[in-house]
Amino acid sequence: MASEVPRTAIAIMAAGKGTRLKSQLPKVLHEVGGMPLLAHVIRTAVRLVPAKDVYVIIGHEADRVRTTIGHTGVNFVLQSEQKGTGHALMVARDALAGYEHVIVLSGDAPLISSETIGQLRDFHVREKAGMTLLSANLENPYGYGRVLRSGPRSSEVKQIVEEKSATVAQKKIHEINSGFYVFAVKALYAHIAELSTANAHGEYYLTDMAAVLRKARKRVVVWQTPTPNEVLGGNTRAELADIDQQMRMAKCRQLMADGVTVFYPGTCVIDNDVEIAPDSVVEPYVQLQGKTKIGTGCRIRSYCVIRDSEIGDGVTVRPGSIMEGAYVSAGAIIGPYSHLRPGSEIGEAAHVGNFVETKKIKLGKGSKANHLTYLGDAEIGAGVNIGAGTITCNYDGVNKHKTVIGDAVFIGSDSTLVAPIRVGNGAYVGAASCITEDVPDESLALGRSRQVVKEGWAREQRASQRKS
Ligand code: UD1
Ligand code: CA
Repeated sequence: MASEVPRTAIAIMAAGKGTRLKSQLPKVLHEVGGMPLLAHVIRTAVRLVPAKDVYVIIGHEADRVRTTIGHTGVNFVLQSEQKGTGHALMVARDALAGYEHVIVLSGDAPLISSETIGQLRDFHVREKAGMTLLSANLENPYGYGRVLRSGPRSSEVKQIVEEKSATVAQKKIHEINSGFYVFAVKALYAHIAELSTANAHGEYYLTDMAAVLRKARKRVVVWQTPTPNEVLGGNTRAELADIDQQMRMAKCRQLMADGVTVFYPGTCVIDNDVEIAPDSVVEPYVQLQGKTKIGTGCRIRSYCVIRDSEIGDGVTVRPGSIMEGAYVSAGAIIGPYSHLRPGSEIGEAAHVGNFVETKKIKLGKGSKANHLTYLGDAEIGAGVNIGAGTITCNYDGVNKHKTVIGDAVFIGSDSTLVAPIRVGNGAYVGAASCITEDVPDESLALGRSRQVVKEGWAREQRASQRKS
């Protein structure tokens, strides 16, 4: 099957600044659905051709774009001056020379699916066209180029007119140019030099290739997508918000179809790559980001923000908890208001509670740290009780040190454990202790000053205050 498809490259135009966003960040790096616009388009592209046949045309803040996207294995073509979409393809001439067809995508239109582009390519090949463009019928076509067909039922295109150059009558056309095309490479480069900058923006418009190729008696055809929402571009912050909303809703719908309950999905922000097993519940105002993975039978309560974390089956995350790079085993209870930082490994059925911060720790099976605690660089065994207000003093101002706590240990409230330190299996630490030396198995450690009681002191004090 693959051998029947002629050699096809994909060029993604991503060199523009995105003036309408009024941003330091180049347009294609603005995020929707938790990923840069361009990353979505590349993902679509590599479903159609291998990454080695994808050419991303970069220019504005090229290094930044290259750094963000480089890991995808695509090629980059530098358009150091951005003189328009036509010019973007001019600079890609050498890169594309060896191909028969080139699919052109816009780096700022991330909703497009590989199915739609695949259909566009098949149509182009069937029609033996020089240029095939994807159009869409939009209720509000404002801002887009309009497609002028040669006749009402003809798939041949006379011209594309940009919003700024359109006549009042042309502005009433609802069929817009999506900015996705397929070209026969030979035809494109035989005539691309005929583009001119005599237009409202003083730029080389790729859209003018329709009229140019038609004049050269090449076939220029249009295929209208039945899914017009896919062509939306993120040119303004409002359009980005719109696209983001669409992706988030689609994600929630997918999760619900897969058996996950999402309450008030419009309030939840769930990234595309998040996985949740059936019969878990996501309450309102939850953010699940990055590569987060959640098991079955979990409940993620309101106002949690969870990034790149893995949560086992039957876990409850109570309101207001924050997690990043954490691993939570089955049956654990987290929160309310817990902060699990990178490298936190919470064991089966363990509890991490109110205002507890953890970083790079292992908390064993069934262990509890329920209140007002900091646990960093620590290995804590099973069945341990960490009292309220316990702190691992892991940092000496220069280096981090480790705290090791055995199984079935009881750490009294308000204790400080000055690392490096080791508390043996079954040991007790009295409340309010400052522990600076290792505690052997099964022993009691007290690291606090003895209580002093001065009987009658308060009464005498008050009496002397009254006299003066
Ligand atoms: C373009 C089309 C318009 C279409 C719309 C669909 C032109 C002239 N117009 O308009 O008909 O309806 O897309 O979304 O093509 N870029 C470069 N180099 C440049 C200029 C732009 O790589 O010199 C890139 C941009 O980064 C962007 C893409 O090309 O990703 C499209 O450019 P943009 O300025 O957004 O074009 P539109 O005004 O949206
Ligand atoms: Ca655009």
